[in-house]
Amino acid sequence: MTQVDIAGLTKRYGGTLALDGVALQARDGELVSLLGPSGCGKTTTLRCIAGFLTPDGGEIRVDGQDIVALPPQKRDFGVVFQNYALFPHLTVFQNVAYGLQVRRIAPAEQQKRVAEALALVRLTGLESRLPRALSGGQQQRVALARALVIRPRLLLLDEPLANLDARLRDEVRWLIREVQQQAGITAFYVTHDQAEAMALSDRVAVMKGGRVVQFATPREIYQRPAEAYVARFTGEANMLPARPAQRLAEGLWRVAIGETVLEVPGATTLAEGASALLMLRPEALSLAPTGVPARVLAAAFLGASQQCDVALADGTRLRLQASPHLAVAPGDAVHLAVDAAHAWLMPDIAP
Ligand SMILES: Nc1ncnc2c1ncn2[C@@H]1O[C@H](COP(=O)(O)OP(=O)(O)OP(=O)(O)O)[C@@H](O)[C@H]1O
Ligand SMILES: [Mg+2]
Repeated sequence: MTQVDIAGLTKRYGGTLALDGVALQARDGELVSLLGPSGCGKTTTLRCIAGFLTPDGGEIRVDGQDIVALPPQKRDFGVVFQNYALFPHLTVFQNVAYGLQVRRIAPAEQQKRVAEALALVRLTGLESRLPRALSGGQQQRVALARALVIRPRLLLLDEPLANLDARLRDEVRWLIREVQQQAGITAFYVTHDQAEAMALSDRVAVMKGGRVVQFATPREIYQRPAEAYVARFTGEANMLPARPAQRLAEGLWRVAIGETVLEVPGATTLAEGASALLMLRPEALSLAPTGVPARVLAAAFLGASQQCDVALADGTRLRLQASPHLAVAPGDAVHLAVDAAHAWLMPDIAP
């Protein structure tokens, strides 16, 4: 049972404010990703949780207890970094057993727990290998076993797949999720890869300049981003300046794109008449016999779909995902159907 509550976390490196009031939670057994571009404070947040860095302010509560003053070795957290950091001169067994030796666990118990951990990450049989005789994916699985063998209260992973090629990344990613769920371990996972964060996480904290700008499920951050920054960071998005003309109900707005009036869901933080942005993901737009008139600028056949760039009468450019069965070519006059239920209206906040 491990529940984490982080509030008002700040950290300064000289003149740089790296963390500016980070707030985050993880429920028992939850995997929470920290997602954001380079330099937004993901690693700094994780290192504060691990205890390798002391924050300048804020609190980190684990099951109600503030751990900021607790040294890292007393936190009982398992940590996995991007660059495996295995001991090169120790075998796989010795690498995994290391944390148990430090904790003075009896040798027979060490044997048993190392065997269990290696079975979890599917490395049984490689106990006597040295790290240099392992592939990158295998080394990263040893690092995962080493973090798990101590039965950590919390698992912390900082871009653990960054050094792996695409195929291995996929394999180790699913293994991490499977092991984390099987063992029911609460985990924080740092990544700048939105697909990875969406596929793995129960909840995602999207970070921007040392702050968490949205903390929600993958579905929520993709379909209902709090601001344009989140929308763009979580996938392709057309953004149209809009002025919500009328509030129809809580979270439902009437907006116009040119001559076409739409009823779309939107953030509750919007104010009537204030400037807003209408997000239309490419899959919320399609080519139709009638609808918003547009002209095709470019079309690319992708097999399962067709990526199509179009311009509206006023010059606005949109990207849409069209059926691969339609023949479209640059210059064609077309009409767009808008799936208004999957559009999203959000406040216009500077990126
Ligand atoms: N030891 C340090 N000294 C000075 N500034 C630092 C130090 N470590 C990090 N920073 C700065 O703090 C900010 C946050 O860095 P952090 O490493 O947390 O980012 P990140 O989100 O993990 O980025 P990346 O995706 O590149 O790993 C950046 O502006 C970075 O330059
Ligand atoms: Mg980092």
